[in-house]
Amino acid sequence: MGWTEGCGGTQGCPMTDTAAPRPSGSRPDASSPAPSWHARPAAREWRCPPPPAEVRAFHNSLPEYAPTPLTEAPSLAAELGVGRVFVKDESARLGLPAFKALGAYWAVHRVLARQPSGAPLELVTATDGNHGRAVARIARRLGQRAHVFVSHGVHPGAAAAIEGEGARVTRVRGSYDQAVRAAADAVRAAGSVLVQDTAWEGYEEVPAWIVEGYSTLFAEVDAQLAAAGAGSPHLVAVPVGVGSLAQAAVTHYRSRDGRGPALLAVEPTAAAPALASLVRGEPLPVTTEETVMAGLNCGTVSRLAWPVLRQGLDAALTVTDADALAAALDLGVLGVSSGPCGAAALAGVRAALTGAAAPARREDLAVGPHAMVVLLNTEGREANPHGA
Ligand SMILES: Cc1ncc(COP(=O)(O)O)c(C=O)c1O
Repeated sequence: MGWTEGCGGTQGCPMTDTAAPRPSGSRPDASSPAPSWHARPAAREWRCPPPPAEVRAFHNSLPEYAPTPLTEAPSLAAELGVGRVFVKDESARLGLPAFKALGAYWAVHRVLARQPSGAPLELVTATDGNHGRAVARIARRLGQRAHVFVSHGVHPGAAAAIEGEGARVTRVRGSYDQAVRAAADAVRAAGSVLVQDTAWEGYEEVPAWIVEGYSTLFAEVDAQLAAAGAGSPHLVAVPVGVGSLAQAAVTHYRSRDGRGPALLAVEPTAAAPALASLVRGEPLPVTTEETVMAGLNCGTVSRLAWPVLRQGLDAALTVTDADALAAALDLGVLGVSSGPCGAAALAGVRAALTGAAAPARREDLAVGPHAMVVLLNTEGREANPHGA
């Protein structure tokens, strides 16, 4: 395993200011306390084009593919004062403990499809855990090499798992945004390609494929709810890092006829660029702090995600590490393996639907006592074994 300082300064860095995300050094409007809730009920009326249909067929063709479980949790419905709660359990997705392989595999498939020579490739990426492991796994499976830049704060077990996939791992002494810059800088040689799950100006094609790949998760939820006779959800809670998964959620639910669910973005209080940007009304990178929600520890919203989230997200809030860890334990008791990033969805819905502010927030989300809620449990405990 190698080490690098990353590329956090503005001097001597080969990337331009409009390229890979750069730590801003500025908290969101440090002069006033950051609000912890943002709502835009008009988002449910917004519409966008659907994701491409061929993604599902691609995932279906993978030998290890199977839909992940959608587990009903009546005790959570009672606690939250809603009709039904379902947990989409991504703790075992394509043989990995998080949803990320859906995007990485589809993107790598598209990258390789346009390689004329079939010559070996090095797949380069930065990660705060799960995406890097997915890239490393698919590289090994396809006989390619992977070089993964792992940001500070990723659980040692998660970093070791990436190495265990046969990838070359470089630990970055810095944030996720710095790791992204280090990875982008490393893609210089021919035969080396960046497979990053966040977009910036001039780097949008691969992240768009990654977002497309996530569409399978939502298509599965539709089919599973229909099979359960449950109808359409009223609220879907999505853990947010750079916002690509939330972009996929908005794209799925806002590209259909009829009034879709309210979509709730949940970020750690230590790293909440989506909330800061939504409040400001323009992209606003933030300085991140330590959080057990390592996969959500990102300082900059993806350039592709931002316009979609701004228009199509109903609400955003933040949760603390303690709330996420408690939610992970509670999901574990219900038989759903959950790491703190995955459990952020439950922690976020608890914050939105219970407590003193709940009546107004329920109104913002149009969530009544009979509402059906879907929580995206995006990682299992093995992915990010904090508190284990
Ligand atoms: C477990 C988990 N949940 C949610 C997310 C958030 O996805 P995104 O960065 O696309 O917002 C990540 C990102 O790495 C993750 O690892």
